[in-house]
Amino acid sequence: MSIPEINLHGSVSDALLAVSLREPLELLEMRALAPSLRDALAGELLCPEWQAFVVELSQVWNRFDHAVIRGTSVLSDERIAVLLALALNARFKHYRGNKIVKHFKMSPWTNELSQTLGDGHFHTDLNTASEPPRITLIHCRVPDPTPGYGALRVARIPDLLAELRRRGADKTIRFLLRDSVSIVDDRAQGLWSGTMASESTIRFHPETLKAAQRRGASFIDPLEEQLDAIHDAALAVSYPIELGMGDTLLVSNVRALHYRGECTVQYMDFPRHFQARQISTHGALRFPRASFGTSVDGWECRGCDGQSTTLHPASALSMALLHATLPVIAVHERMR
Ligand SMILES: [Fe+2]
Repeated sequence: MSIPEINLHGSVSDALLAVSLREPLELLEMRALAPSLRDALAGELLCPEWQAFVVELSQVWNRFDHAVIRGTSVLSDERIAVLLALALNARFKHYRGNKIVKHFKMSPWTNELSQTLGDGHFHTDLNTASEPPRITLIHCRVPDPTPGYGALRVARIPDLLAELRRRGADKTIRFLLRDSVSIVDDRAQGLWSGTMASESTIRFHPETLKAAQRRGASFIDPLEEQLDAIHDAALAVSYPIELGMGDTLLVSNVRALHYRGECTVQYMDFPRHFQARQISTHGALRFPRASFGTSVDGWECRGCDGQSTTLHPASALSMALLHATLPVIAVHERMR
């Protein structure tokens, strides 16, 4: 399996760096959350190489449901996480009013899933939410101090189901595709009930299933057996993705599970001062405006009024090249 990678052109890196150095994170987040200000912000990145990046990203995304954007160490800043997501032209998930980016440093002193050194679960983010983010972005500010640790993985739902079928895991297939379950988020006090997956979509987190079980929810077959089967199959259909300083992973939070491997720390001065993996992350929601996608005959343009027009691929491509922030990816999110 090859990693779907995009290497940022030097001109794009320069544009990202210039904008990020000019404005503090708080201001970038505020601009990114307001549609008109977001357009102006995206316009500041406009150059032919950025436009080509948007098109390449859409192509990689449509094929793999995730993309690794290789940057440079000068881009290891949480502001880059906001700016790169402008390529999606998505509505940002926000919290505490007008915050978008969350920053995490791994720690040996916590059991929080987002920061503990132990390996995580294959999961989707905010899986009890009525509208989970469509896309998760993970930007590496500092990689794990030990090569090979803190690696990410992505398991696409069609690959996962195919592997479970190949293994004859009928109970697990039924658990995902047909059983109605309840999932509970202890921290967000969220609750969601329904069927977790289809052939092309999924919401899933072992911890929210276990939380439901602790509150008395019952499952047809032992929950741990199903979780183990899903974990093993997801491992088999995924590969380790190591992010270097300034690299970013974009992954569908609807059509794939993601996972983070075991992490390490290096102490400079025990116990408080240590080097550890640091990331900036955020989620993107549905796409509110006109979007583009492929149809049998070419590209389909669908406006926010619901009207659709099929375009020749070349014209759609040239339109995409004319408008840096065309939500090329959006379309496929909406159409699939
Ligand atoms: Fe996650």
